Amino acid sequence: LPDNCEVHRGALLHFLDDPGNDPEPIPGSVEFLEDGLLVVHDGKVLLTGPAEEWLPRLPDGVPVSHWQDGLIVPGFIDTHVHMPQLGVMASYGAQLLDWLETYTFPHEARFSDGDWAQAEAQRFTDLLLSHGTTSGLVFCTSHPESVQALFEAAEQRGMGLTAGKVMMDRHAPDDLTDTAQGSYDDSLSLLKTWHNRGRQRYAITPRFAATSSPEQLSLAGRLAGEYPDVLVQTHWAENTGEIQWIRELFPERASYLDVYDHYGLLGDHTVLAHGIHIDDADRALLAQRGSRIAFCPTSNTFLGSGLFDFREARAAGVMVGLASDVGGGTSLSMLATMAEAYKVCRLRGQTLTPWQAFYLATLGNARVLHQAQHTGNFEAGRYADFVVLDQAGSPQLAMKRPYTRSPFEALFNLMMLGDDRAIQATAVAGQVHHQRSDKAPALSS
Ligand code: GUN
Ligand code: ZN
Repeated sequence: LPDNCEVHRGALLHFLDDPGNDPEPIPGSVEFLEDGLLVVHDGKVLLTGPAEEWLPRLPDGVPVSHWQDGLIVPGFIDTHVHMPQLGVMASYGAQLLDWLETYTFPHEARFSDGDWAQAEAQRFTDLLLSHGTTSGLVFCTSHPESVQALFEAAEQRGMGLTAGKVMMDRHAPDDLTDTAQGSYDDSLSLLKTWHNRGRQRYAITPRFAATSSPEQLSLAGRLAGEYPDVLVQTHWAENTGEIQWIRELFPERASYLDVYDHYGLLGDHTVLAHGIHIDDADRALLAQRGSRIAFCPTSNTFLGSGLFDFREARAAGVMVGLASDVGGGTSLSMLATMAEAYKVCRLRGQTLTPWQAFYLATLGNARVLHQAQHTGNFEAGRYADFVVLDQAGSPQLAMKRPYTRSPFEALFNLMMLGDDRAIQATAVAGQVHHQRSDKAPALSS
């Protein structure tokens, strides 16, 4: 082992593959170490292993941060979240379309001010980290400055984000709309600047079919065809009023999904947020195209949109990620998001095991975003993006802890009762960027 490695010690858990959704994880899919080491070198994972086995092999003087009560897991990944919507959270009493018009569009208009965009991008990335989220797929606004501001904030923190400029040329206020050609040009220019610059990735971002003209969708599809390794993100089949509107706007298309398919926007780099009101034909087409759904449970319940059918999507072979969808969503915490996903599954007569929930928030989401070669678990060579979860991080968690008999129960407690108080520390590429001041690790060497 190199002299200049850094070591984190605690309980440790990560996924090597999809654990399935049964109480017993699929053999070989999860590594759990009751007293483990995460050895980091040059910002990347060197190895994980039992403390007993590896402590004696550490070179003299290597610092060991011992996270008591800590459970070290890969940093959470959020597959659908809006940077400019922190101030839209908890907007009362609306469903999607009036929520957009009444609260969201007026707020996003503020991002024409570059200073405001920068300040919000800083707040947003700091909040992601304090909630244990180290990476994600992010909507900005239609203003190119908002994308610039977000990527700069991510870069300053060593985080890898995938993000894009909203393309939206109709059915929105003038101060938010672009034009078909202008949105193509701006997206292309941002893509050329930011895609693969360090850890940053660009995403082609038509808001949804209702706010893009056919010309704009067609140019978005052209851009996706020109850059097949660039993600496409949009919204789809969230709300019944929305779906009816799409039917009226695109009467010649067979379905809402067919609109995106027609304009060349459905490929294996496409992430569709919501996908609630869909049928078997939709699922079959998604599976065929390799397109993914971002399941946004706190948003779907908060806006009264509906209950995503997790089991049917999985059964059809559709890749599903988990997402906060702030500001439609009510928490940036992926723990709170897992809790809501569990409840949505229960309301559909289904379950979501803690194995599957933690898999989704880490390796599963990394796979959805085509980033699993870089982040999502602790295989050697991945960026050392990790969270230290505090299993006694809130009064409720502390009370439940003595009755917790297995890793399954420990994870379930964290997902059902946890929030940002359970985030003891968050590290990106080995650097601790957020740490609860009252929960410092014990240092030894
Ligand atoms: N559909 C189109 N835009 C949005 C948005 O900002 N949030 C959500 N939840 N759905 C959308
Ligand atoms: Zn959204």
